[in-house]
Amino acid sequence: MKTTMPAVQAKPNILVLATGGTIAGSAASAAATTGYKAGALGVEALLSAAPEIQHCANVTGEQICSIDSKDMTDSIWLQLARRCNEALAGSGVDGIVITHGTDTLEETAYFLNLTVHSEKPVVLTGAMRPATAISADGPMNLLNAVRVAAYRQAAGQGVLAVLNDQIHSARDVAKTHTTSVETFRSPELGALGRVNGGVPEFYRSSLRLHTLQSEFDVSRLASLPYVKVIYGTANDDALFVDAAVGAGVRGIVYAGTGNGSVHKDAEAALAMAAAAGVVVVRSSRTGSGAVIPAEPSYREHHLLDGDSLNPQKARVLLQLALTRTDDLKKIQEMFHKY
Ligand code: SIN
Repeated sequence: MKTTMPAVQAKPNILVLATGGTIAGSAASAAATTGYKAGALGVEALLSAAPEIQHCANVTGEQICSIDSKDMTDSIWLQLARRCNEALAGSGVDGIVITHGTDTLEETAYFLNLTVHSEKPVVLTGAMRPATAISADGPMNLLNAVRVAAYRQAAGQGVLAVLNDQIHSARDVAKTHTTSVETFRSPELGALGRVNGGVPEFYRSSLRLHTLQSEFDVSRLASLPYVKVIYGTANDDALFVDAAVGAGVRGIVYAGTGNGSVHKDAEAALAMAAAAGVVVVRSSRTGSGAVIPAEPSYREHHLLDGDSLNPQKARVLLQLALTRTDDLKKIQEMFHKY
């Protein structure tokens, strides 16, 4: 009797780009979870801490930088976007995993969500405990990130963040706790899926535009527009707005109270900034919910609504928006599309 062998599926090729962070952190003792050096270990050390990843993919590593992600720069973002686009354009790479510090992971993820033009999965991961700690979370997060990057259904979902067994959309994910391993959440909207017992499972997808549908092309840019976040508080005033305008910013994200509310003294300064051509977006310091039209004066003063992006992500979108246009109507539309 003739038997047919089942077709052997080739393992996908996954490129791991390492940038540093606690996942590559080294402390003096195994009990230490603070006071360590982030970004101390290279990509080969990260890969060898989770040898199981070679079972689900052919993995190669590349070191982009070795930083604590609080020190992330626009120039590393541009380098990462270019490297992802270049690697994913060829047939030799089926997906990318980026190891990253958790502090600014959500910002890098959202930047890449809007500047990588490929359906192939791009997954960011990190860790809350240094690699040298008892119960370090990095190796399992890295393994799960590779599993998701190698998973067919992850294609076309936009850039993803995979930590603590959860799969989040780059647009919605935020770091919400200072030290807990359960820190990444997508406030209000929820995660896209989970890695259940080692198997990725998607339950929903984001409808906001990303990757292939994004209009932002940073391939020829050497820098990004200068945009600052100003944090609103009781007793606020014009000081930081005036300083930002004096320093030549092209955009200001105001992290307002409640529904992006602006102190009257800061509003007077923002109105002057907007009249001088600085693009101003109202966001919220509350941590969840959309900033929607409120006071008529905000419209009169041309202060745009930041929708449900947190202030640090509103800054990313405003930077990219300003690479395309100064038209306030078009920029407002972008905040409802991306
Ligand atoms: C960093 O963001 O590089 C340090 C903190 C972390 O990765 O958890």
